[in-house]
This record gives sequence, structure tokens and C-alpha cells, in this order.
Amino acid sequence: MRSYLSHVARPVEQPSRERREQALEAAGYNLFNIAAADVAIDLLTDSGTGTMSTDQWAAMLQGDEAYAGSRSFERFQEAVSEVTGFEHVVPVHQGRGGENVLYGALITEGEYVLNNTHFDTTRAHVANNGGHAIDCPIDAAVGGASDYPFKGNFDIATAREHVEEVGAENVSVVILTITNNSAAGQPVSVTNTREVAAFAADIDATFVIDACRFAENAFFVQERESDYADASIREIAREQLSYADAIVVSGKKDGLSNIGGFVAVADDPELFARVKQRTIMYEGFPTYGGLAGRDLDAMATGLREAVERPYLEHRIGQVRELAEKLSAAGLPVVEPVGGHAVYVKADQLLSHIPDEEFPGQALVCALYEEGGVRGVEIGSFAFPDTDRPEYVRLAVPRRTYHREHFDHVAETAAAVVERHEELTGFEIIGEPPIPELRHFSAELRPVE
Ligand code: F0G
Repeated sequence: MRSYLSHVARPVEQPSRERREQALEAAGYNLFNIAAADVAIDLLTDSGTGTMSTDQWAAMLQGDEAYAGSRSFERFQEAVSEVTGFEHVVPVHQGRGGENVLYGALITEGEYVLNNTHFDTTRAHVANNGGHAIDCPIDAAVGGASDYPFKGNFDIATAREHVEEVGAENVSVVILTITNNSAAGQPVSVTNTREVAAFAADIDATFVIDACRFAENAFFVQERESDYADASIREIAREQLSYADAIVVSGKKDGLSNIGGFVAVADDPELFARVKQRTIMYEGFPTYGGLAGRDLDAMATGLREAVERPYLEHRIGQVRELAEKLSAAGLPVVEPVGGHAVYVKADQLLSHIPDEEFPGQALVCALYEEGGVRGVEIGSFAFPDTDRPEYVRLAVPRRTYHREHFDHVAETAAAVVERHEELTGFEIIGEPPIPELRHFSAELRPVE
């Protein structure tokens, strides 16, 4: 059984209740506007917020900061090839930089993109290139009630209906997001991946895997897909990714680094050439992609650590432990629990608050006020005009928090459950111009 020692100590203080109330009001009841120093336990995201290993820090000291062809790039390329099977890779500053590079090379105005569920930056990049983003989740993903093992899967029947409607010639890209972040971090099976690849080939679309959490996904495959029970995490990851024409990865997730990402292309020299050109334009020369050489070394080492089974047992074990504690505290959580976060069904707890008054945001604010715990709403506030469920996401940074922290989150949750009937909804008082991005900066006030 793996665990981790903390050899760098950062004190964490719980701000006083008065301070938390003031901070919340000054933030316009939007937790993105709260300073980290005013947060006790930060579960806003698992992206870039994890703890690097001693091997990663050691590797960083070897960073080669040459502009072109650095040794750090060579080591990075070797790690990507070993772990993912892809030889043609460009680093980028983070996942969305990769989305800009890749989707700008693939999508032209008016084309359609199908995905199990688009993550918000993916949707924004499809739109930015003039494309239309269509989600094709399976039915089991939506309600969250069943214990179906692969709720993140892509629904091919739904996708075919869309293709009939818009014409195969207008669908340029098919994306599979593993794990499916916007569907409660649920995994995708290898069987489904193979089927989606065949479907994409059938309609002559490029098949991309958004592989931000490919290692966590492989853990679930090993656990739940019988054909892969005896395969190693590395074998599963390589096989699952091998079906894609290209992959886009945020190193801030399963690269276990604080910054970075990459795009890799299989056998399409023409596409890879376009990707490299766009990398030069938006990220940097294709052997550093907007990163320092040392960041490439951190990511190279992190990618290898992420596919170690003991690491994943610890990682997913922590998420499951938090879910159990929250459930025992009376919060309704999505089951089975996904890879990187616990998703709470806020509308179930706060059934007296209508969706238009953002029950998820009410829960997020109450968790902060009660215990300095920062989560994020991913319901009607974050995704206006969609019928996403009213979830709150409590994401677990990798190798960072310990059981005492999870106990504190659970005690906070129990206190909120205790007074849940008193909680009120919220209304928006100031909104930014791009509706897809409103939850990052909109301000709210409690409904009287
Ligand atoms: N794709 C998925 C599935 C993601 O979860 C993210 C980021 C990205 C792409 C973009 O990567 O942040 O490195 O630019 N997700 C983070 C989150 C922000 O909190 O879930 P990025």
C-alpha cells in the first residue's frame, strides 16, 4: 500500500468565520474571486494543484533551457513515446493551449464536432474555430442513478443521428474525453474507445482523445473491464490511446506537473506539420511549447509515475475515501465515484432552491462559510442554457491532502447538512460578456 511523506511543509490556517463571511461577500459569492490565503481546504480543481515527487523536483534541476532541441525535450519525447505510444509530440503551456493548436488545425467554420461530453475549454475552442460542439453522452451518464461501470462512454447511436442530420461531410472531428470530466469524472471503456474509433473512421473524421486523465481511466478499465483485468495500467493506457489519430493532454492532470501539456499525432505528417506551425505561432518553438525546459522534465517524470498502479490506488483511494465520508455526513454523492473528484447532487440536498437560483452555488458558498472549504458549482450557473445536473465538484489535488483534511471537509459538510433548510438561492448581479465563461467572474447576491 502506497502513501506519501510531505517533506515540504506549508502551514494552512483556517480563517475566522467573520473573515470567511467578509471574503464571501467581497467576492460577490463567487469562489473564484477568493484569495487562496482565505481558503482552508482547496478543492476547486485537481489541475496543476498537486504535489510533485522528489524525483520530479530532482529532474527539474536537470532542465536544459536551450531554445531549440533541448535535452529536456528529448527526455520528454521519450517519456511520451514510452507511456502513450505516440512518437510525434509538441509540448504546450497547458491543455487549452493544445486545444487551440490542434482544433485550429482540424476545424473549419460551420463544421460539427462530436464528443462524449465537451469540457468547457474544449467547447470554447470548438466555437472559437467556428465549429458546433455536440455532446453524445450515454443515458446512464445523465441521471447518475445506476451503478453502470463506464458512465463516461460515448453514445454512438446518438452520434449517428446527428451525422444523419448534418451530413457526414460536415463532421470533422470526433473527440473522446477520458475520463469524462463534465460527466462526473466517469471512465470510458476500451471497448467503447474502439467502437468510437471505428465510427470516426466510417464517417472520415479525425479521432481525437482528450487524454487529460488517461491514467486514472486505465485504472478503472483494469478494475471493471474483464478483458483487461490482467493487463498492466501501462498496457491499457497504450492500447486505449492507440486508437486515436491524435491526443491532447493537460500535463496538469496525469502529467502530475504544475504546468504543461502536449499534443501528439499518430501517422499524419501533414497534420503534424500544421500542428507544429500553430505551436510556433501560439505557444513557442515546438521543442519547448511555452514551457521552461525544467517543466518538460517534471512532466516526463510525472507521466511515468502516473501509470504506476500503487500511485493510482492511492490517488483514486483518496477520492473514494472523501466520497464515503461525505456520504456518511449526509451529502448525496454521484456513484460510482469518478477519478478525480467527488460530485455532489446539490439539487437533491437543496430541493427547496429552484435551479434558476443555483442550488449548487448555494452549497458551494455554504461549504466555504462553514469550514473554509472551496469547491466549484458545475450546474446552471457554470453552464447556462444546458440541462446539466446541479452538481458541485470537490476535486482532490494529487498527493496533497491527508485524512485529517478530509475529516475536516466531512465535518463541514455535516454542519451544512444540519442547517440546509435555511440556505437560500442566489441571483446574478454582474455578468461578463462570454456566457460560456461566466462562472469564472460573475458576481451574485443571495435571494431575499
Ligand atoms: N480537457 C479536460 C477534460 C479538462 O478537464 C481540462 C481542464 C482541459 C481539457 C484544459 O486543460 O486546464 O490545462 O488548460 N480541466 C481543469 C478542471 C481546469 O478543473 O477540470 P488546462
